[in-house]
Amino acid sequence: MGKVKISEHPLAKHKLTLLRDKNTDSKKFRELIREITLLIAYEALRDLALVPIQTDTPLASTTGCRLAEPIGLVPILRSGLGMVEGIWEMIPAAEVWHIGLFRDERTLRPVAYYNRLPVHPTVSVCLILDPMLATGGSAVKTVEILKEWGARRIKFLGLLAAPEGVEALTRAHPEVEIYLAALDDRLDDRGYIVPGLGDAGDRQFGTA
Ligand code: URA
Repeated sequence: MGKVKISEHPLAKHKLTLLRDKNTDSKKFRELIREITLLIAYEALRDLALVPIQTDTPLASTTGCRLAEPIGLVPILRSGLGMVEGIWEMIPAAEVWHIGLFRDERTLRPVAYYNRLPVHPTVSVCLILDPMLATGGSAVKTVEILKEWGARRIKFLGLLAAPEGVEALTRAHPEVEIYLAALDDRLDDRGYIVPGLGDAGDRQFGTA
């Protein structure tokens, strides 16, 4: 299954169960997305590069470190938005670059309707944020966009995936690491992840 890392953290499992529950309201749903994202980001960010720096405590001078690489958070609109805030609080210097995609009904391929990336890359590590890796079409397209932009290292952070989505992303971009809270059973004929959690956008934004 390529570079797929599924969280084993008990808190992620506990919170994911609450997230799946159809009776969880929108406010709680957003809180849970934020919290589970943090647990997944903890794993995904383990290999961030550091550079040593000197710092003065009230008692002495000592060697510490700071993050070496500029980091970009790339939420896929709209359901990726709820995954931004928690990581951004931990890494306030991260840049946030939104990507919006729709499906061309003729070609069935994702087309970008929102992409304000500047010509030259401003970050070297990109974290794509999308809670649901379903068919994988949006994730594959977003990685293509980021590679063309010049991002050197790209990771995908999601909450749930279908095997079809993992397979599509891994086949198209085998070097992209995929971090998840769970890998579900399948997609249904409407492209929903089963058992899943329903529509992650509608449940976050109260638009169901
Ligand atoms: N997007 C969602 O919001 N839910 C799914 O199950 C699949 C894609």
